[in-house]
Amino acid sequence: MSASTGVRAGIVREARWTDVPALAALELELFPDAAWSEETWWAELAGRPRRDYVVVDDAEGVVGYAGLDHGGDVADLMTVGVARRARGLHLGQRLLDELERRAGARDTASLVLEVRADNTAARALYEDSGYEVLSTRQRYYQPGDVDALVMRKLLPRKPHVL
Ligand SMILES: CC(C)(COP(=O)(O)OP(=O)(O)OC[C@H]1O[C@@H](n2cnc3c(N)ncnc32)[C@H](O)[C@@H]1OP(=O)(O)O)[C@@H](O)C(=O)NCCC(=O)NCCS
Repeated sequence: MSASTGVRAGIVREARWTDVPALAALELELFPDAAWSEETWWAELAGRPRRDYVVVDDAEGVVGYAGLDHGGDVADLMTVGVARRARGLHLGQRLLDELERRAGARDTASLVLEVRADNTAARALYEDSGYEVLSTRQRYYQPGDVDALVMRKLLPRKPHVL
């Protein structure tokens, strides 16, 4: 436990306002061409409870994050990212697991996401997590003519007690 921040390394937790600078810095590392600014993160966190962001820390601070847009029956994965220094430790998997748990708690039927066809790591993570390709948007990402894959995971519905 870090005495200064009160966070524990490796625990997936809800994103806080104080995480915004770290989230914007991680965006620059992960998505240099389309990084979300601090202003965008403020707007995203202000969109809660429809928006739903979780983070994971290591000893140095926020090391991964992921978020959903809860749109009723379907929840959209807004983003997921893990700092290079912490890749391959199943943090991406744990972030997705937590989002899935949160979606299940809202009785969501399916999770949907969009991924670049050339993003091997993300595609493998999603396939490992049970997502299937629903459709392909050809040459969606420009420049580069890269296809977008729309992937979906169906969640088990809870039985409703009458
Ligand atoms: C995609 C990303 C979040 C994966 O994070 P991670 O914490 O390293 O992934 P995990 O350790 O949880 O991996 C879980 C599984 O995904 C697959 N996987 C993850 N990274 C992989 C890679 N580089 N190559 C192949 N498979 C990979 C593996 O099946 C892995 O399971 P295993 O380790 O038991 O084989 C990370 O690479 C990242 O932040 N990339 C840049 C941002 C990005 O592209 N986000 C997605 C936008 S759609």
